[in-house]
Amino acid sequence: MAARFAAAGLLKRALSSAPQQQVRCMSSQTPKRKVAVLGAAGGIGQPLGLLMKLNPLVTDLSLYDIAGTPGVASDLSHINTGANVEGFAGEQELAKALKGCDLVIIPAGVPRKPGMTRDDLFNINAGIVKSLASAIAEHCPGALVNMISNPVNSTVPIAAEIFKQKGTYDPKRLFGVTTLDVVRARTFLAHKKGLNVKDVDVPVVGGHAGITILPLFSQATPKVDLSDEELEALTKRTQDGGTEVVQAKAGKGSATLSMAYAGALFAESCLKGLNGAPDIVECSYVASTVVPGLPYFSSKVRLGPNGIEEILGLGSLSDYEQKGLEGLKSELMSSIEKGVNFVNVKA
Ligand code: LAC
Repeated sequence: MAARFAAAGLLKRALSSAPQQQVRCMSSQTPKRKVAVLGAAGGIGQPLGLLMKLNPLVTDLSLYDIAGTPGVASDLSHINTGANVEGFAGEQELAKALKGCDLVIIPAGVPRKPGMTRDDLFNINAGIVKSLASAIAEHCPGALVNMISNPVNSTVPIAAEIFKQKGTYDPKRLFGVTTLDVVRARTFLAHKKGLNVKDVDVPVVGGHAGITILPLFSQATPKVDLSDEELEALTKRTQDGGTEVVQAKAGKGSATLSMAYAGALFAESCLKGLNGAPDIVECSYVASTVVPGLPYFSSKVRLGPNGIEEILGLGSLSDYEQKGLEGLKSELMSSIEKGVNFVNVKA
């Protein structure tokens, strides 16, 4: 009897102390991570700030925008999660916003209106990205950078050229966020085939605009049989997913909530990698040699403590995908050149 009571007592103590031990262990092992969102008062920035505030890997959340951030920061700071929130408004506060950052997420800029391509945003967003990249080079040159501002196919090369000029460029730390293409491909495939969406994965490679977005349904998990018509429809819907939202919003912007969700997923993977979690693999648009002749390309990358640990190859492509790859090369290359020239060629 006594033994049973003793055992019950031990069990009770073990159960009641387990959560505390877990918390203690988590707080001593989880490193401090400061994350900045640049463009934090905008359509993507606000929900993205919310999702990062909910993320236990974030210890400090720095919300920067040209205006409006004190309000967003005050609002988010009342949420009873661990991340300490600070808002910074105006260029004179950008340095403070960036200081000590491990990860900088950039959704800043203007969104599309119906009839516009992502490239139509170039004239405004290129300049915004250029000045934000200069500030990152100056104030947190070691941070990982997640670029969301469109056209991503050009804004990633713009940031890279700025970092090169400033002598801080590390290709392992600069990412174009293409996670929304993966999120869409998963959703659309699950709906089309009646699958449970949580079991579905689809790599998406190439870039982040129209035909440069190349979903690889032949490599989907679970393996699916698609008719030619289904494949064509799913590929087009994934490529035009952003435009579908732009049209539905009818002048009120582009994808903000799904983009924030995708941006938060990718940022979390970056943080997990920084913290040393194993086997963190995401598709991202990065400096690459995967496709000869294209200096930037999205493919699966393995994330780790230094950013990109490994860029994975494309795997075997179906004839349809191979054709898609050939078809995207010239558009992607001209978007890359446009970004590079914006920084390096004097008008
Ligand atoms: C999209 C934009 C935000 O894919 O790039 O919807």
